[in-house]
Amino acid sequence: MAAENSFDLLKPLQNQKALVTGASSGIGEACAKALAAAGAAVAVNYVSHRETADRVVADIRAGGGEAIAVHADVSDEGEVQAMFAEATKAFGTLDILVNNAGLQQDAAFEEMTLQQWQTVIGVNLTGQFLCAREAVREFLRRGVVPATSSAAGKIICMSSVHEVIPWGGHVNYASSKGGVMQLMKSMAQELAPKKIRVNSVAPGAIRTPINRSAWDTPEALAALLKLIPDQRIGEPEDIARTVVWLASDLSDYVTGATLFVDGGMTLYPGFATGG
Ligand code: BGC
Repeated sequence: MAAENSFDLLKPLQNQKALVTGASSGIGEACAKALAAAGAAVAVNYVSHRETADRVVADIRAGGGEAIAVHADVSDEGEVQAMFAEATKAFGTLDILVNNAGLQQDAAFEEMTLQQWQTVIGVNLTGQFLCAREAVREFLRRGVVPATSSAAGKIICMSSVHEVIPWGGHVNYASSKGGVMQLMKSMAQELAPKKIRVNSVAPGAIRTPINRSAWDTPEALAALLKLIPDQRIGEPEDIARTVVWLASDLSDYVTGATLFVDGGMTLYPGFATGG
């Protein structure tokens, strides 16, 4: 039980090994840095620009942390398997997966191409399945090491408020995140007896490249803030802090949960004055 463990509250992930997908920018980058600051060695996954991952690795090492860059397109089974083999060889094992890689390819419904649909489902949903499966195989191979963590492994799925909020113009993206919700919960149910915890973080609007057009002009930001009761856009670190907690034994009895980190976006803000 976590309560009986004595671990450093400032370094709750000491001696743990993590892999973060899509970690060369945005939320993934912040998660990689926060996990490293909490004591974990981190494999920083990237898909196309090695130099961006190298920069994150260099930042982590400059802060005294341990990190490596690992390549894979998460929607490609062979590349995912090769990436997990590389990370487990470098670190010895893996304790934490942050299933973060994701993208948007927006279109009006009648204009959405099959390619746009399949690319988004492939990365956002199939990619989370492929990475989680490899992580679970390693967690089961190694089992619980009580001195490291009371769990055999922890998976944190990056979902979205759009796992519950329908999103016109983005049906591929909203469908992928609705799928992530059931992927996460079904895995959590199946794997809890094996001491593997699976949870999601559902960000609202976070200041990252994926939604730049929603915040980089005063007009867009004003429109966005109407959807956020907390009246501020989120920062990647808001998400990263939650991920560290879910990855640590501080949340040992939490599995199958989605934590909405959204400044209240899922609270039907239109009803604050209407209805
Ligand atoms: C999307 C962002 C969007 C936010 C809130 C996220 O999942 O990726 O583009 O701003 O949800 O709507």
